[in-house]
Amino acid sequence: MEDSIEVILQDSGRMLPTSRPHPVVSACTGALLTGMYGVWSLFVMPGFRRVPWKLKVPYLPSSKDQTQNIMKLLDGRTGRLADLGSGDGRVVFAASSAGFQCTGFEINSILVAYSRSKACWRGVHANQATFVKKDFWKTDLSSYNNVTTFLAPGVMAILGDKLLKELPDDARVIACRFPFPNWPQHSCVGSGLDQTFAYDICTVRAHLRTLPQGMNEN
Ligand SMILES: C[S@@+](CC[C@H](N)C(=O)[O-])C[C@H]1O[C@@H](n2cnc3c(N)ncnc32)[C@H](O)[C@@H]1O
Repeated sequence: MEDSIEVILQDSGRMLPTSRPHPVVSACTGALLTGMYGVWSLFVMPGFRRVPWKLKVPYLPSSKDQTQNIMKLLDGRTGRLADLGSGDGRVVFAASSAGFQCTGFEINSILVAYSRSKACWRGVHANQATFVKKDFWKTDLSSYNNVTTFLAPGVMAILGDKLLKELPDDARVIACRFPFPNWPQHSCVGSGLDQTFAYDICTVRAHLRTLPQGMNEN
């Protein structure tokens, strides 16, 4: 009996590879992961140093459906549009081809450079689409009557307060995926991760005025 167990153990030792990887493989994997993290942080993080931790939003491009949903909710509107955190410029390009005069505010200089070169390559004129390397929290948005956002749930209440202070009464705000808490929606399209919400600032202000004191904070 003991002999047969030893045979089994010997056999399994022969069949199963040792779990310790070769030192060269370990070194290469470590170097690869460090390199990937370096590229990721270079691409996603530049410009963020001066943004408070709770307002930091990383880069994540919107899907094709999301962009189409934004354009549906902007249907019939005209004028100036600000995309807050314009990423690679996809929302700005879609809106500018629908006739809006667009500004993409983006804190990541690599994404700004990429968007500008894409605009150049596509022959998009600067009065249709401009990309500005600027922190939108520190930007006065009062000259825009259309605003688009795809940010993060944790910043929506603070952004709501800023937009209510600055935007004109006829402004429309489009929020991708993450709605504004306590704002009544004008309309909403899509579902799941592509769900997109539209708000009219005059309606939001009127609604918040009807709430009892202290409840009209986001
Ligand atoms: C989730 S991505 C959305 C990108 C793009 N709007 C889209 O739909 O594909 C958010 C973007 O906002 C940018 N961003 C975050 N905070 C910002 C700030 N304070 N000022 C300007 N851009 C900011 C990020 O760099 C990132 O590109």
